[in-house]
Amino acid sequence: MDVTRQFRDVDDFSPAELETVLGMATDLKERFDRGDSDDPLANRTLAMLFEKPSTRTRVSFETGMTQLGGHAIFLGPEDVGLGGREPTRDLSRTISRYADAVMVRLFDHADLEEFCAFATVPVVNGLTDLAHPCQTLADLLTIRKHLASDFDASVTWIGDGNNVARSFAVGCGMVGLDCTICTPAEYAIEESVLDRARTFDAGGSIETTTDPREAAAGADVVYTDVWVSMGEEAQREEKLAAFKSGDFQVNDALLDSGTEILHCLPAHRGEEISEPVFESDRSLVWEQAENRLHAQKGLLTFLLDAA
Ligand code: CP
Ligand code: NVA
Repeated sequence: MDVTRQFRDVDDFSPAELETVLGMATDLKERFDRGDSDDPLANRTLAMLFEKPSTRTRVSFETGMTQLGGHAIFLGPEDVGLGGREPTRDLSRTISRYADAVMVRLFDHADLEEFCAFATVPVVNGLTDLAHPCQTLADLLTIRKHLASDFDASVTWIGDGNNVARSFAVGCGMVGLDCTICTPAEYAIEESVLDRARTFDAGGSIETTTDPREAAAGADVVYTDVWVSMGEEAQREEKLAAFKSGDFQVNDALLDSGTEILHCLPAHRGEEISEPVFESDRSLVWEQAENRLHAQKGLLTFLLDAA
């Protein structure tokens, strides 16, 4: 097994590998829907290490392993005491001796890097403060199905330049979407991340702005996420003030009539998105959430070389 196949962010894969994973995800979904009996990950175990809460990531990975004939083990903060009971590197080396792959959701991206440096099995980033690449896989599946099979579409991010936004921008660059990232200036995505997103010669574009109206005009889809991410609770008042005063809420006044919406969830209605828009026919969020399952089945099957 090639243990360099770690998935810290989407650009740990080449664009061709990303396309392979998306294709495997679609194929596995069709096979499962047809009822094909299929156990490519029989006798394989995924350890899942969570430092933060989760609904979609936990349930979709665990369900995915079950559907693929394997097994998933949930390890919460109380179970392993990450970084407290024993160093991250010792956890990584120990879990690598049991499990075939590890999914980790951590606060600090540096801890993920340490975990990866000592792992001898594939490691998947299930969200850190810097990146959420599994979410991007599901986002790209959703965009491809609903907007453009060749990714010839315009997508706009409105909100915080956070973990989800960073991975999404890089993913857009890799597949050639026309992507606009709209954030308040003080919560913009770092230039280094934009440079990564612009590295690829896939035919799209990565633009930035601080003006939500300009960003939303003509967009095929507008994507948003919470204004205050897990671990940022101390900044809540300051961040809410910045997003509210800049009119960053995704609502009907902002959107063109044909624009659809994405949200990685959980959503805070009345903050980053209005209740009517969230509950409207514009919303692709439930299919987007379902696509976490299909995307990660493709990812695990790819990483464990079990197609
Ligand atoms: N979108 C997402 O990762 O959801 P959870 O935090 O519930 O896993
Ligand atoms: N940006 C959010 C995403 C949750 C899936 C957070 O980090 O809390």
